[in-house]
Amino acid sequence: MVTHITKAVIPAAGMGTRFLPATKAMPKEMLPVVDKPAIQYVVEEAVAAGLTDVLMITGRNKNALENHFDRVTELEAVLIQKGDRDRLAKVNESTDLADMHYVRQGDPLGLGHAVLRAKMHVGREPFAVLLGDDIIDARDPLLDKMLSEQITRNTSVVALLEVDPSQIHLYGAAAIEKTDDPDVVRITGLVEKPAAEDAPSNLAIIGRYVLRPEVFDVLEHTKPGKGNEIQLTDALQEMAVNPETTGGVYGVIFRGRRYDTGDRLDYIKAIIQLAVDRDDLGVELRPWLKEFTSTLE
Ligand code: G1P
Repeated sequence: MVTHITKAVIPAAGMGTRFLPATKAMPKEMLPVVDKPAIQYVVEEAVAAGLTDVLMITGRNKNALENHFDRVTELEAVLIQKGDRDRLAKVNESTDLADMHYVRQGDPLGLGHAVLRAKMHVGREPFAVLLGDDIIDARDPLLDKMLSEQITRNTSVVALLEVDPSQIHLYGAAAIEKTDDPDVVRITGLVEKPAAEDAPSNLAIIGRYVLRPEVFDVLEHTKPGKGNEIQLTDALQEMAVNPETTGGVYGVIFRGRRYDTGDRLDYIKAIIQLAVDRDDLGVELRPWLKEFTSTLE
């Protein structure tokens, strides 16, 4: 039995159409959240949980992602010459973070298809999947709990968040049974992006998964579902109802701070929320924000 999970898979092949024209020539994962690309928060979260082997599933137009996690010797040389250690440290932060690997998705056939592209790299061991649109506040650890539940229950684990019922159509929704741990549930069924009236609950899958390798066997035969895409949720549904052969699926309920950067409005909110808490920006931003909001109707 595996006691230590080290691999994280980060799908990053989406086209980012919600952010055009910003994403015309740049991957949406590189959009800055305050002063760091969104994707760097996600890689930092993986590394903080001990997942130092990171496989990114990329696509066309994604060279900037690889460059961001690689050295940039010309810039480093200039900063060294100037003696600018602070900025040099910022440049090196993402270079030394993780052991990065890349594979391309080719056809954008859905999240399930993207995850299946990780099969060769992952092999037959449990691994995590982190979706770039969700940023989990570093002060509210989630992955640690998911990894330890995966190991003790020898199952697949998804992160769940209670959302307003009017929002459930944006997520995978879970039917659940309680366990002896108030933060852990057994998943009895999953539906991808149901209408509010068809949703089994208002527990939404947020973009964190710790999966058993059996998910690859299931994804090999998963048919296109919602939006005519191969859905990870559909593969997990099959696993949830076949615990004997696949290990089943559990959920860890997240009650901390999560920032969605997947659409423009949430992205703006995420930047403000993260910036007000920053030591270097919050002191000036907070009073300004108060004054600014008092001018609003
Ligand atoms: C994906 C998954 C969905 C999940 C969501 C979390 O959807 O398919 O089940 O709830 O991520 O962010 P997407 O937002 O990529 O359409």
